Amino acid sequence: ASRRTLSLLNNLKKDAKFFSTSSKDLAKVAVMGASGGIGQPLSLLLKQSPLVTDLSLYDIVHTVGVAADLSHMDTQSKVRGFVGPDQLKSSLEGAEIVVIPAGVPRKPGMTRDDLFNTNASIVRDLARACAEVCPKALIGIISNPVNSTVPIASEVFAEAGAYDPNRIFGVTSLDVVRSNAFIAELKGLDPQKVNCPVIGGHAGITILPVISQCTPSVSFEPDQLKALTERIQDAGTEVVKAKAGAGSATLSMAYAGARFTFSLIRALNGEQGIIECAYVRSDVTEAKYFSTPLLLGPNGIEKNLGLGKLTDFEQSLVAPAVEELKKNIKKGEEFVKKH
Ligand code: NAD
Ligand code: LMR
Repeated sequence: ASRRTLSLLNNLKKDAKFFSTSSKDLAKVAVMGASGGIGQPLSLLLKQSPLVTDLSLYDIVHTVGVAADLSHMDTQSKVRGFVGPDQLKSSLEGAEIVVIPAGVPRKPGMTRDDLFNTNASIVRDLARACAEVCPKALIGIISNPVNSTVPIASEVFAEAGAYDPNRIFGVTSLDVVRSNAFIAELKGLDPQKVNCPVIGGHAGITILPVISQCTPSVSFEPDQLKALTERIQDAGTEVVKAKAGAGSATLSMAYAGARFTFSLIRALNGEQGIIECAYVRSDVTEAKYFSTPLLLGPNGIEKNLGLGKLTDFEQSLVAPAVEELKKNIKKGEEFVKKH
């Protein structure tokens, strides 16, 4: 009889885990800008994953249709669409992770900073709603210019008295994904087995691939290393030019954004050793925000892993990047003070 009791208890435990409603096993994710070029494929990848249990889709247009469409997929997460400012706060209720790809993309000839005037207020308003409704959520900001939109969101949280620097991330995973792909292509490796950290920021000379820390270890002649570094720095522009007016990277960004979101969820669920590069509040350099590899945990950043050992070539790129970042950061901070 005691064996039967034991097996009954075990089954109950299994069922309890399966049906668990504890916050640890739930991952409620909100995508802000869910109807866009990034938002739709990102939502598709999130809907496909068993890591996500609730998916909340917010945009100023079309989310009712996007949500209806995704909700027919036979995967476990519940999808709900929210449209327009009246439904903004409801879209964020209970969110543990908020991913923000809302805002306009570049056209050929534009810099990411040229998007500031339109996207700064979009990110500010979304961050204000997050600070009020889900102040403890982990926030991943994709909207450009990331170098300035992360300081904007951080200042907004600070104004609301809800700022936790460990919970706000500028999503720079696409730079890592691109580095992995380009290195694998040059060296004939499986790209899934390549991991190259990228530090700094997310625009031009602020993007600093640390190829010397790549696993597996790879080496290039100086000319090839310079060309590879520049290709990674200009990869966004490569896509903007190829799309010829129809926007910027969306599909590879959705892939990279999903990868980052899944890492946040795994860390929330207590998985150990989850490391991602992201642009965060930092004291690693003189720039107040800087991307480095981060050990993630249930409360966001558990430990900033810093710059690591850089080669002379990599080190020579840091100072100009920091100078540029300081300007981008100041611009974001001043925007919040003035508006
Ligand atoms: P898109 O124009 O296709 O989609 C943007 C979506 O945002 C649209 O559906 C639009 O309706 C929505 N939107 C606009 N204002 C909004 C608001 N106030 N609230 C909610 N949603 C709003 O653009 P996209 O190609 O998806 O790019 C989105 C942003 O992501 C751009 O700023 C782009 O530069 C940036 N981006 C960043 C990276 C990165 O690596 N961090 C990579 C690619 C693109
Ligand atoms: C990218 O790196 O692809 C994005 O930041 C979009 C852009 O404008 O290049």
